Amino acid sequence: MSKKLYIETLGCAMNVRDSEHMIAELNEKDDYVLTDDSKEADLILINTCSVREKPVQKLFSELGVFNKIKKEGAKIGVCGCTASHLGRDIIKRAPYVNFVLGARNVSKISEVLHKDKSVEIDINYDESDFAFKDFRSSPYKAYINISIGCDKQCTFCIVPKTRGDEISIPTDLILKECQKAVDSGAKELFLLGQNVNNYGRRFSGEHEKVNFTELLRRISKIEGLKRIRFTSPHPFHMDDEFLEEFAKNPKICKSMHMPLQSGSSKVLKDMKRGYTKEWFLNRVNKLKEMVPDVSLSTDIIVAFPGESDEDFEDTLDVVRQVEFEQIFSFKYSARPLTEAAEYTNTVDEEVGSERLSTLQDLHTEILDKNVAKQLGKVYEVYFEELRPDGYVAGRSDNNYLVKVKGSDELLGTLADVKITDVGRASLIGEIVK
Ligand code: SAH
Ligand code: F3S
Repeated sequence: MSKKLYIETLGCAMNVRDSEHMIAELNEKDDYVLTDDSKEADLILINTCSVREKPVQKLFSELGVFNKIKKEGAKIGVCGCTASHLGRDIIKRAPYVNFVLGARNVSKISEVLHKDKSVEIDINYDESDFAFKDFRSSPYKAYINISIGCDKQCTFCIVPKTRGDEISIPTDLILKECQKAVDSGAKELFLLGQNVNNYGRRFSGEHEKVNFTELLRRISKIEGLKRIRFTSPHPFHMDDEFLEEFAKNPKICKSMHMPLQSGSSKVLKDMKRGYTKEWFLNRVNKLKEMVPDVSLSTDIIVAFPGESDEDFEDTLDVVRQVEFEQIFSFKYSARPLTEAAEYTNTVDEEVGSERLSTLQDLHTEILDKNVAKQLGKVYEVYFEELRPDGYVAGRSDNNYLVKVKGSDELLGTLADVKITDVGRASLIGEIVK
């Protein structure tokens, strides 16, 4: 009889893809099938994130709970970025954990499973890093890794330490992977990397030098493919050629994640982001000129060491000017192994919390204004999810969550939808074509 696997995935889309890969490996090599009940699982995996401190603290309390409720003989494994960062210390703090597997090593899941107390967190390049298996969480869209690791040294960020150097996956392998996903029914591809538009700067061996813009062109030629999304691009690498391809290629969805981090050129310099407030706004304005309906999302950190009231004002200023549809906002969290963790000019906790709520309030205002403008618009929606309330939900090309009344026959289809009602979390509409 098959064994049961319970897996919890935290953090970014790359972790989602890493989890898919581990699920496929465990199914193929060890006959595991998924369960959503941790109590009946033979193996409990937590795929962790270490970008901020809070989720790391939560990990140990969660592990304690799993240890109590798990069935006799069940194993517990910790994977992902916190596994890379804390390594064997995880087993020291929680001795019942059976193995620790770093974010760069997920392909070794079947090996560590059979070696009790093993710790695999090497971040050197390994061919098997690219050879991902076929399990997909959704039949309608597919995540595709295009690069692993990150070469930037943003002073707040632990990712380059947990995911290692940036290496682009060879173009022919990516195209094969994309073709396979489309052949199996996915009409949308989501390209993944920590810094996707730096694609092509370094390969692991002798490979054709293809940049991100050219990669997008090649992928978009795949017949049957309707949509391409990607995350995350870096504002520093948003050259004209890339923005022009984004604007004119009909298969590229018109929503872009532009991680700002801060609107102050001084703070951006301290963060080593490589761009200024002016460059960021220049790129946004160019994009909006070419694609008036583009929707933009961003990541912002408040209370980075040394951030003054004026610096924070600059962030608010950019947010007012750009009117992002979505903002992921965080209070700065000092991370081990990063440069900024050494900075002594830290900002008061309370000031940080105040800035965070000021930013979030401003965004709610912008959101209400933007959302009201959607009434009566017509968007092409790709339906992916049947809701228990009789609605079918999907995303517009520019990434709004749109719901229409309907049945599972709509799943996996695209249709033009006229927006008849709006809310902060989703839009409601009727199919017009
Ligand atoms: N390359 C990815 C970044 C991954 S980290 C990208 O560009 O999206 C995801 C986000 O977490 C970052 O954009 C940043 O806003 C936030 N973050 C990273 N380190 C952080 C820290 N030390 N404190 C608070 N937020 C942080
Ligand atoms: Fe982190 Fe900066 Fe890379 S935010 S993942 S070091 S681009």
